[in-house]
Amino acid sequence: MKGKTMAVVGAQWGDEGKGKIVDALAADADIIARYGGGANAGHTIWVDGKKTVLHLLPSSILRPGKTNVVGPYVVVDPEVLVAELAIARKIGATVILDPRCQVVTPLHRQIDVLRELTNGTGVIGTTGKGIGPAYEDLAARRGPKLRDLLSTRRMFRALRDRHFLEERMLLIRTYAAQGKDETDPIRWRLFAENGRDWPELELSGWGVQHAETIAPHLKDAAGLIDAADGKTLLFEGAQGIMLGMVAGTQPYVTASLTGPGAIGETLGVHRLDRVIGVAKAYVTRVGGGPFPTETPEKGDWLRERGAEYGATTGRPRRCGWLDLVALRYACRMGGITELVITKLDVLRGLAEIPLCRAYHRGDGAPCVPEGFDAEGLDGFQPIYETLPGWSEDISGCRSWDDLPENVRTFLNLVSLQLGVPVTGASVGPEREQIAWR
Ligand code: GDP
Ligand code: IMO
Ligand code: MG
Repeated sequence: MKGKTMAVVGAQWGDEGKGKIVDALAADADIIARYGGGANAGHTIWVDGKKTVLHLLPSSILRPGKTNVVGPYVVVDPEVLVAELAIARKIGATVILDPRCQVVTPLHRQIDVLRELTNGTGVIGTTGKGIGPAYEDLAARRGPKLRDLLSTRRMFRALRDRHFLEERMLLIRTYAAQGKDETDPIRWRLFAENGRDWPELELSGWGVQHAETIAPHLKDAAGLIDAADGKTLLFEGAQGIMLGMVAGTQPYVTASLTGPGAIGETLGVHRLDRVIGVAKAYVTRVGGGPFPTETPEKGDWLRERGAEYGATTGRPRRCGWLDLVALRYACRMGGITELVITKLDVLRGLAEIPLCRAYHRGDGAPCVPEGFDAEGLDGFQPIYETLPGWSEDISGCRSWDDLPENVRTFLNLVSLQLGVPVTGASVGPEREQIAWR
């Protein structure tokens, strides 16, 4: 019999504060598994004034005594992995890596970057970490897996499997040829820097230098979870439902499924007792794509107050007001059973807080989009209602009753509008700065 099962998923466009919430909930979990995405993610945890940003390993590794798992749907960049394994080793955290994880190579990163650079108008604004191309190879049923890093022989085979190297190099040369006509020095620098990695890959020695570090951690993740009788399981999502490959704002999305459905298919846990959606009290997004509640007027204020710069790329995040239309959709698509609202402290000092309860298409009449892809959302604008703000410093609140009345009114309205209980209010970046209901 399984013990309790929980999942933490992003309910907006990523960076909602999932890392912080996973770290908090991990106190009561035995096994914590990251189930999707790759080093495009940046999950921030603050403990006693010390900041840690993790890209691949679960945000629970800072708590000794937990079993931290990377599931087979995660695409793994070995360089990032080795750096994070060193953090885990220092803390004494147990780390299990599924041997079937797709490996992100320098070729993937290079294709990702060059594609965006030569794309003209269709730029997605990816993180440049090679995520899209790596998932393409997962779907093409080729390319190296984590277990292939164990020997040069395995790597040699994996790189030649189903024309992997041949096709990937061809693509790079095609994009690079387009780049050649460019006078843009940044383009050329990127090209030259990344080009360095080719010969090493062609000779197949790449990545194998990490074999000894990685080998002791390799173990079938679904099997380990299946054998975990009575244990409390916590699954950590990356990105957010609105960035999901299918449910999100296509084509401005990442290249993987981001919702908890992926947990069942890749790790064998189909029944989740709690699906905890994490959402900011406002909205941010990095990269291109529709964002109905983006606010040019207050965007800079929100960015500075909330320190809204990407944890992975350092890019300034676009900022806007809480969008209940998108959040309602995300709750439905993600099967979210409860919400934790983060960064409430950031809104302090606003006389009024705008809240988007419906969309219109220019005439002020509320209407519902036919889909949340870029085409479906085209032309939709927010209809705002405003709620009274608060001037109190809430960063010290640790229980629901500590929260000022206006904060509770804000959270109750969100809950009522969505039909989903709000069970947590985060009031600062530190581990303890949260009020549970
Ligand atoms: P994730 O990708 O969902 O884990 O989120 P990120 O780490 O990319 O971005 C969230 C940012 O907000 C990080 O810098 C966190 O330290 C910070 N953060 C999380 N919760 C709160 C909060 O309640 N208040 C404030 N001020 N910062 C928070
Ligand atoms: P966490 O887990 C915010 C965005 C990128 C871009 C789009 C596609 O920290 O919330 P990709 O590199 O995945 O091909 O980029 O997705 N993106 C994220 N935005 N947080 C993330 O992760 C993201 N991961 C990808 O900015 O718009
Ligand atoms: Mg992030």
